[in-house]
Amino acid sequence: MPGLLLGDEFPNFDADTTIGPIKFHDFLGSSWGILFSHPKDFTPVCTTELACACRVSEEFTKRGVKMIALSVDSVEDHHSWSKDVMGFNGSSAGSLPFPIIADDKRLLSVQLGMLDPDERDKDGMPLTARCVFVIGPDKRLKLSILYPATTGRNFDELLRVIDSLQLTAQKKVATPVDWKPGEKVMVIPSLSEAEAAALFPNGVTTTEVPSGKKYLRYTQL
Ligand code: BEZ
Repeated sequence: MPGLLLGDEFPNFDADTTIGPIKFHDFLGSSWGILFSHPKDFTPVCTTELACACRVSEEFTKRGVKMIALSVDSVEDHHSWSKDVMGFNGSSAGSLPFPIIADDKRLLSVQLGMLDPDERDKDGMPLTARCVFVIGPDKRLKLSILYPATTGRNFDELLRVIDSLQLTAQKKVATPVDWKPGEKVMVIPSLSEAEAAALFPNGVTTTEVPSGKKYLRYTQL
């Protein structure tokens, strides 16, 4: 992701959105945030993604994460497309439970390195890739994912990574493959055995490996 690395302060951009003009940091307040971009309004994969984002929006709210989408069309187009998105969900509501940024001049898409070089609209204008940025309450980038326009994302996975990000921001642990909340977590390698024993009262178990090195350490929080 050119120009924006994990730990960087996320740009405090101004944008027009379906809820009016925003300054990004003010929009976030002290919450976590997730910004996800879409190639274009009125396109099929994007419609399924946004509809899913609406269905799971309460799960993001529960986690204290403010959602905001982006597409390279106008606020007017976004309002009109929103009706399709809600209709796809079988709802007659006219608006989504989160705003969509209007990036019709593609200024933000360029600034955040989001354009997909392989995808253009019928006028030859570049489209945005499917980027995901998760921003912490400190306004720093905690996670980025970049999918091409032709591959839709999985919002259950986004909730899962947010659970991991929020847990590992608080405790000196890491989450293993396919981890889900409530499952055992791993003790980070930089902790000594004594430090781990002091930090994790439920105990630390170590899985034996052929090297004999004791780095596969689990604990139940
Ligand atoms: C879509 O959302 O369906 C889409 C958008 C741009 C390129 C390919 C698919």
